[in-house]
Amino acid sequence: MSLWGGRFSKSINQKFKAFNNSLYFDYRLAEQDIISSIAWSRALTTVNVLDFNEQKQIEYELNCLLEKIRINPKIMLSSNNEDIHSWVEDQLIEKLGELAKKLYTGRSRNDQVTTDLRLWCKISIKKLLKSTLELKKILILTAENNQNTIMPGYTHLQRAQPITFAYWCLAYLEMLLRDEERLKNTFKRVDISPLGSGALSGTSYNINRKQLADWLGFKSVSNNGLDSVSDRDYVLELISNASIGMVHLSRFAEDMIFFNSTEVGFIELSDDITSGSSLMPQKKNPDILELIRGKCGQVQGALTGMMMILKGLPLSYNKDMQEDKKFLFNAIDTWHECIDMSILVLHKLIINKARCKEAAKQSYCNSTELADYLVSKGMPFRTAHHVVGKIILKAINTNSALEDLKLSEFKKFSDKITEDVYSILSLQSCINKRNVQGGVSPIQVSKAINEAKKIIVNSLDDF
Ligand code: ARG
Repeated sequence: MSLWGGRFSKSINQKFKAFNNSLYFDYRLAEQDIISSIAWSRALTTVNVLDFNEQKQIEYELNCLLEKIRINPKIMLSSNNEDIHSWVEDQLIEKLGELAKKLYTGRSRNDQVTTDLRLWCKISIKKLLKSTLELKKILILTAENNQNTIMPGYTHLQRAQPITFAYWCLAYLEMLLRDEERLKNTFKRVDISPLGSGALSGTSYNINRKQLADWLGFKSVSNNGLDSVSDRDYVLELISNASIGMVHLSRFAEDMIFFNSTEVGFIELSDDITSGSSLMPQKKNPDILELIRGKCGQVQGALTGMMMILKGLPLSYNKDMQEDKKFLFNAIDTWHECIDMSILVLHKLIINKARCKEAAKQSYCNSTELADYLVSKGMPFRTAHHVVGKIILKAINTNSALEDLKLSEFKKFSDKITEDVYSILSLQSCINKRNVQGGVSPIQVSKAINEAKKIIVNSLDDF
């Protein structure tokens, strides 16, 4: 039976019923719905709607139900209920009859659903933080093992200046640290209890909302019922976190796809996470990375979808909002999965150090060094830039690296160039020189790795 059948004289159109139902996706809130119902039953004893004994029975049956759904989280999917709230209610009525119906005093599904969803978001944020930490650990480990792996760094996908593989890893680490920070910030705004807001204007029973929030582990209580039942900013915010996180992972994936290409060949993915072609026997495809890159689009779509649900929506609760969970669950599942897949990619990554170094060598990555060298000999940088450009043209035409040009050839472009030029043209020298904070020098990179290790040790202490 539906929760609201009393005022209707016709039974529900079956097609509309299917259209209206949300159980097939909101069943994932079962645990949260039971837990918030237990807390609500306690609150009802404080206002004498339930006596002590009645509350005990309700709590006992709800706990049994909790056990049941922990064993089989999809048990409710074969039922005919409208949503997870009505399923829990029906289950309880089946056990306790009229007594169970008292639990629905003073509470609306409007405050119930957002309470459940906030509880779900809190758990999800904690899980996401844990997985992000694992990804950070493996990035740090990869950095640690590749402090001497010189490779070209790119701008415009053109080889630009030499960097190390460690430095590249640390760039992604920075992004993950920001993702973590964002999640922790979002958590603060999720951690607020809307329970007791009733349908929209506050429950008429004089319950202590703060105590109720404490029972549910919420830090504080929401202020305004009208806002509380219609606020889904926390959903927007969490999907937005996922969208930014996925942008990072998609860039990680794209870099890796490029590094893994036959033309580049800096890395090789482990056989057990690659797939073959049904036609071309030689193929070993980076599907795992392509999927991470592709799934990013889904999450951006979820953010736009959620924004559009809320845009122009009048206060307070409207059924449009039921759709929020589809976007939220999809975005969070996808992000989480892609974090886990990125861990897998790094876990068994093979790095072709020789090939990385060769690419850095072949690319005139040390041109800036030569210009800086001329600056150190008193030439203005713009002039030096021009002179080095001419030297590079010569080197390209003779198919040689800068460091392979003879001193007499250098002299044709500037008599400021002397024998000491060769020491500054080595890749190692280019790297060593960038010894400012945040630079690529081995000293800075090793410092950054140590810092990162320290930061992550206690990073989840409060979560
Ligand atoms: N299933 C609904 C949702 O997810 C909650 C029900 C509130 N419905 C209502 N008619 N007030 O948003």
